[in-house]
Amino acid sequence: MIKPDAVQSNSIGGILEMMNTAGFRVIAMKYTKLTAELAGEFYAVHSARPFYGELVEYMSSGPIVAAILEKENAVADFRALIGATDPAEAAEGTIRSRFAESKAKNAVHGSDSDENAAVEGEFFFSKFERF
Ligand code: CMP
Repeated sequence: MIKPDAVQSNSIGGILEMMNTAGFRVIAMKYTKLTAELAGEFYAVHSARPFYGELVEYMSSGPIVAAILEKENAVADFRALIGATDPAEAAEGTIRSRFAESKAKNAVHGSDSDENAAVEGEFFFSKFERF
């Protein structure tokens, strides 16, 4: 997912270019906006965290780009491409080092496992929207 801060800063194209250059193929893609309820559902796994309220408010504050990406070893390779959650700790050349503003406004989200990638793909896309 490309988050509201990166959409706002006109970084959609730059981020998609980095994904394509790194070998990720787009299976599904959508420009949309989450309600607070949907953002809360998407991040339900973090509901006990102190930053949950801020996260839900922020993720429903503006449009996002949701996508399903395909590649060998996609989860690990995508996490390497996006870099650490905190852009101050993200390695040079990563998406977050280039585009993220802060730990909360960190430009992109990537699934943390194949299992969660399947759940998160279902959250956004029907089978008719995957190619
Ligand atoms: P993401 O990969 O989308 O998964 C959970 C998100 O919670 C994370 O990226 C951050 O945007 C956000 N997050 C994690 N830690 C903090 C924090 N300490 N303060 C605010 N937001 C956070």
